[in-house]
Amino acid sequence: MRIDAVSIFPEYLDALDISLIGKARREGLIDLRVHDLRDFAHDRHRTVDDTPYGGGAGMVMKAQPWSEALTHVLDSADGTTGAAPVLIVPGPGGERFSQSTARELAQAPWLAFACGRYEGIDERVYEWAAERMEVRVVSLGDYVLNGGEVAVLAMVEAIGRLLPGVVGNAESLVEESHEGGLLEYPIYTKPAVWSDADGIERPVPQVLLGGNHGAVAQWRHEQRLARTAARRPDLLHVAATTQELAGLDHSVATRADAAELTVLQKACWIEMVTPAELWWGAPAEDAAAVAEGLTHWTTHLFRSEGRLVGSVRVRRDPHRETTWQIGRLMVVPDLQGRGLGRALLAHAEALAPADITTLWLNTGADQARLLRLYKKAGYAVVGPGENAGTVDLSRPRRG
Ligand code: ADE
Repeated sequence: MRIDAVSIFPEYLDALDISLIGKARREGLIDLRVHDLRDFAHDRHRTVDDTPYGGGAGMVMKAQPWSEALTHVLDSADGTTGAAPVLIVPGPGGERFSQSTARELAQAPWLAFACGRYEGIDERVYEWAAERMEVRVVSLGDYVLNGGEVAVLAMVEAIGRLLPGVVGNAESLVEESHEGGLLEYPIYTKPAVWSDADGIERPVPQVLLGGNHGAVAQWRHEQRLARTAARRPDLLHVAATTQELAGLDHSVATRADAAELTVLQKACWIEMVTPAELWWGAPAEDAAAVAEGLTHWTTHLFRSEGRLVGSVRVRRDPHRETTWQIGRLMVVPDLQGRGLGRALLAHAEALAPADITTLWLNTGADQARLLRLYKKAGYAVVGPGENAGTVDLSRPRRG
């Protein structure tokens, strides 16, 4: 993987020379190139910031050095990594970075990180960059750091360790916290009984000493659940939904579900299409229109403890008999990015009757996240959709 990082404190990123990520760099698994933003400022003081228009505290990073620095990165594309990187701008106002973000970004051949400082970067840089590459603003968590560098250290480590060959024991990647949506179980090493400085004897749990692998696995799973319930109860709900759809209550929608489904549609689209006055199609539908849709499609609903968390609808194409249409794949926003959409898609595909040869779906041409999900599942864009701004995707049915 190639990684570029632009910062006014390039030495901050020296820590990436150390330990496993440093070793991966020396072995050529990660090609990390750090750039000093000030090299792209041309005045005597190498100025990269200025006061904000409209007033307000602090300084704003200027557009010109950023566009030149990123142009320098883009100009160094070398054919092995594609024409442009995915640009990640760390910031507290971004999408939340998680293990699933790390897994997703670990698939990209080329990442570039833009470390902001002060109050942030002139908004026009984001527009300019989005015309040239995919741009994602990503936050480590709900707190404010002084700049993006610490976030880059964290993200590069989380992403880098998922690359083949970086962590020696691949099994340790499977067994760790957040894989499978649960926290890690407690671990112990010798001695079997440790006497602390107060003379208190602290034994290792007996089950770990007995050599019964089944009992150990069972104990560890229980510990993961108990620990997740105690420290991160919010994750238990997610774990129950992502491990498989089987954990959810499944039903086929009737008119009685129309109101709830209408709310789910609006919740799913609200972040995608603004302003609301321009809504058409799914987000614009009222409950009556949703109920009408239920008569043309079979809509599958999935609930967790009564809450509607996802749905997808399917039907045989009215004009092409052997094509299976999949539509309105929806996951409540707080559970997105955790594999539930992929599971819903697999569910919809599995419902196709035996004579179906082609699977088909349609989505917004600008929905990068959904397009990624569909492409990963083997779909290719086959042309513009019936509604402006949408594309049709399809794939042959396998097996
Ligand atoms: N820059 C400043 N605060 C940040 C945060 N919470 N996450 C990522 N980058 C940041």
